[in-house]
Amino acid sequence: MLWIPGPTEVRPEVLAELARPAIGHRTPGMAELHERIDPPLKNAFGLASESSSTVAVHSTSGTGMMEAALRGAGQRVLCVVNGAFSRRFSQVAESLGKDVHVLDVVWGFGVEPDVLAAALEEHGPFDAVTVVANETSTGVRTPLGPIGEVVRQHEDTHLLVDTVSYIAGMPVDFDTNGLDFAFAGVQKALALPPGVAVFCASERYLERARGVSDRGFFLDPVRVLEGHVNRKTPITPAIPHYYALARQLEDIDAGVTLPEGERGKRGAEAWRARYEKHDRMRERTQAWAAGHGLEPFPGEGFRSSTVSCISGGDLDVAAFVAGLKELDYEISNGYGDLKGRTFRIGHMGDHMEPDLEALLGAADGVIAKLSAQPTA
Ligand SMILES: Cc1ncc(COP(=O)(O)O)c(C=O)c1O
Repeated sequence: MLWIPGPTEVRPEVLAELARPAIGHRTPGMAELHERIDPPLKNAFGLASESSSTVAVHSTSGTGMMEAALRGAGQRVLCVVNGAFSRRFSQVAESLGKDVHVLDVVWGFGVEPDVLAAALEEHGPFDAVTVVANETSTGVRTPLGPIGEVVRQHEDTHLLVDTVSYIAGMPVDFDTNGLDFAFAGVQKALALPPGVAVFCASERYLERARGVSDRGFFLDPVRVLEGHVNRKTPITPAIPHYYALARQLEDIDAGVTLPEGERGKRGAEAWRARYEKHDRMRERTQAWAAGHGLEPFPGEGFRSSTVSCISGGDLDVAAFVAGLKELDYEISNGYGDLKGRTFRIGHMGDHMEPDLEALLGAADGVIAKLSAQPTA
């Protein structure tokens, strides 16, 4: 069973959607798929019914959407870097020839609002700020509201947010938090096979993007978003993935993926209950770790509800991960420099609390076995 920080387990009924007979992408059937996707996707981004922001789907990955977000942004970009994926966001910006200022934050923490405010004052003005809401490499969640508030003090600065391992696990609240562009691949907390990405853009982002020249074609956010809105995707989309996306979003929206006692919940209430399930899983995982004398890697206040990154202490992390794999539980070693020093448990997507108990029980067994072994 996959407990890595994505891709994660996909429910069989969602997988079955991928096997539907092919349809043409310029047909009423395809338009109908778009119609099914949009309302629950708005709930995934936490849009109010009167919101002027627009949601869309593209047949690409999370990294593809980093590039798309930046293709519609202005030239001067401040990139908050606190892990491997936020570093990638800055590298994508550099590769597009943007004028990039990197605001380095110690791994294990999110950017503090006053630090961001000072960087914007000192090094600005900027057209955009990039932030990764949930650093999958470190299990760090950056609270979005205070960041949005800071960016909103700068009228011409747009906030571009990677919500790849965040959406459907924690509330995006796109408008309330002052986001201008947010995106995600679907293989993480949305619990779908990789293959498409979802995104949301504010009116002011789109207004500016329309004026940016040389936005390319395949990753032009305006072209892709307008294609979605007009039910005329600029390319042949990954149609089977649209079926799976529609089914999964509708099921989340209808409370189908919730613990049994909560299945009567619908719409925004069902999404909130999903986030609360992930909060409980974070708490439980941390309590389990504490029972073994292990600490979360992220600082207090920055701990993700979808990915727990735990410092391994004296534990032989590679042997621990391998021991669990033997029992058919896949978790991840630390990312990059954190390999061997941390491990990551992706309690995201449709995993349920009894499944987590089973994993942690197996982990207890592996740790007991490792500590019984004589050290070399
Ligand atoms: C936070 C974050 N951003 C971006 C990516 C890259 O996404 P993709 O591999 O779909 O391009 C990942 C992948 O793990 C991620 O965790």
